[in-house]
Amino acid sequence: MKIKKAILPVAGSGTRFLPATKAQPKEMLSVVDKPIIQYLVEEAVTAGIEEIIFVTGRGKRAIEDHFDTSFELEHTLEKNYKKKSLQEVKRIAKLAKFSYVRQPEPLGDGHAILCARHLVSKNEPVAVLFGDDLVESKTPCIKQLISIYKKYQDPVIALTRVSKKDISKFGVVDPVKLDNRTYEIKSFVEKPDPEKAPSDLIAVGKYIITPEVFDKLEESRNDAGEIRLANAFIRMIKNKRPIYGYEFEGTRYDCGDKFGFIQATIQMGLKHPEVRNKLKKYLRNLKI
Ligand code: UTP
Repeated sequence: MKIKKAILPVAGSGTRFLPATKAQPKEMLSVVDKPIIQYLVEEAVTAGIEEIIFVTGRGKRAIEDHFDTSFELEHTLEKNYKKKSLQEVKRIAKLAKFSYVRQPEPLGDGHAILCARHLVSKNEPVAVLFGDDLVESKTPCIKQLISIYKKYQDPVIALTRVSKKDISKFGVVDPVKLDNRTYEIKSFVEKPDPEKAPSDLIAVGKYIITPEVFDKLEESRNDAGEIRLANAFIRMIKNKRPIYGYEFEGTRYDCGDKFGFIQATIQMGLKHPEVRNKLKKYLRNLKI
């Protein structure tokens, strides 16, 4: 079955970015001149996704406005002959078909995904993109995962390597290598001590999930604590159901983290035609 829909849970509180996220969604923070969330939507659309389902929450209205038509702004741009900006603003609203569901309380990333279940058909696989992970690559990261899904027809998780000293911040997988970049995942360990980490491969916030994953999320509704997508995968593995991981080609920036966000801004800035030369010169002359 073709993957046509993507769920983008954006109802998290973004506490790592306070105070910037006190009154605005972290997904709307801009990397050069585009909000992070637009990079993610463009990634999904370039991979063939036709419908974007946002799971929003309190204080996330700016995301809806960003992907909607803005008559006043379009009128002003037209009146002032700002043709290029007008085209860009119009293009955003036409990128895909957008739907919104609300997560009443931030009860976990898995809970947010469950809030969108009724918008997905019974047997339909979907892409999931978390609001933090920006990947710069020739082939969109989610497209790379879709090709793996096509081969195995089971859930696929984006993987990347991190250094040992950073590993305890992430969800680490225990992988069995199948080929160059594809793995079957044998277990997950959340934020392990560096000595106990089963590998240096961590799960990045991009996935292909199947109806079975929704079922496992449902089953975890009565568990203590948040409903987490990682726990649904753990349940599947315990039931001997296969989960695949793909070490994608490209560079990942964790934009939910201050340093990752600054890295993304510099890297994207160095490629942006309006600022790249000035930025290069500025960075070269920095006395640090
Ligand atoms: P994060 O783990 O990054 O959490 O969520 P967060 O709340 O957004 O950020 P911090 O850690 O407090 O800074 C991963 C993804 O899941 C979404 C987030 O919006 C993000 O895209 N999420 C998380 C929800 O939609 N609902 C939740 O209850 C939790």
